Amino acid sequence: TSSTLLSGKKVLITAGGTQEPLDPVRYLGNRSSGRMGYAIAQACQEAGAETILVSAPTDLPIPKGVKRISVMTAQEMHDVVLEEFPKMDVIVKAAAVADYRPKENASQKIKKQGTSLWVELVPNPDILAELGKIKSKQILVGFAAETENLIDYAQEKMRRKNVDMLVANDVTRQGSGFGSLTNIVSFLFPDGRRIDLPQMNKLEVARHLRDKIAELLGVTKED
Ligand code: C5P
Repeated sequence: TSSTLLSGKKVLITAGGTQEPLDPVRYLGNRSSGRMGYAIAQACQEAGAETILVSAPTDLPIPKGVKRISVMTAQEMHDVVLEEFPKMDVIVKAAAVADYRPKENASQKIKKQGTSLWVELVPNPDILAELGKIKSKQILVGFAAETENLIDYAQEKMRRKNVDMLVANDVTRQGSGFGSLTNIVSFLFPDGRRIDLPQMNKLEVARHLRDKIAELLGVTKED
């Protein structure tokens, strides 16, 4: 049955939007709510997986039975994920990771000036791309939130980052993406297969995703 589908498997999910500090009171952030990642953690836990959520700041409660490790920045998320990676069977990268961070994190609050303020941004590590390079047995699942050319961009990302499955969502569609309780996604696979799901709750999306992950692991549902 689905309550034991992933028993004995270790799954790590990243969720939420990273926050990149500018000074002690300000950060650069994004609109990720963390809901999709938290729903995936719940769905995997329900299926008996040992589930770790590496979470950027959100207001969401920790799903029952899930271990949460809280992080703030992309760099912190990177360090935790790389540390846990060798022990994992599955990694799902649902977090919206900031591509850039302010070069300087001022030690004191930046004071208002009359003129323009210039902030230099430097690139963050691409956690998923790094995992794609070092993975051995692990199943790697990525997300692509896009605002145009959804499938093309997502396919390009799937290949470039060497993932086993990519979840594509158009964040401009109603009922999809950041903050929404529902999502409209497509699952893409390196062999060219593509599954378009209709609009559904994020928990339902998460359960479909979990069942596909089980298939990729070679375990099948018996109910
Ligand atoms: O930001 P991008 O659209 O490239 O994100 C695609 C996937 O890569 C997502 O699964 C996201 O969590 C992951 N990612 C990451 N580290 C980054 C940027 C994105 O792991 N610095």
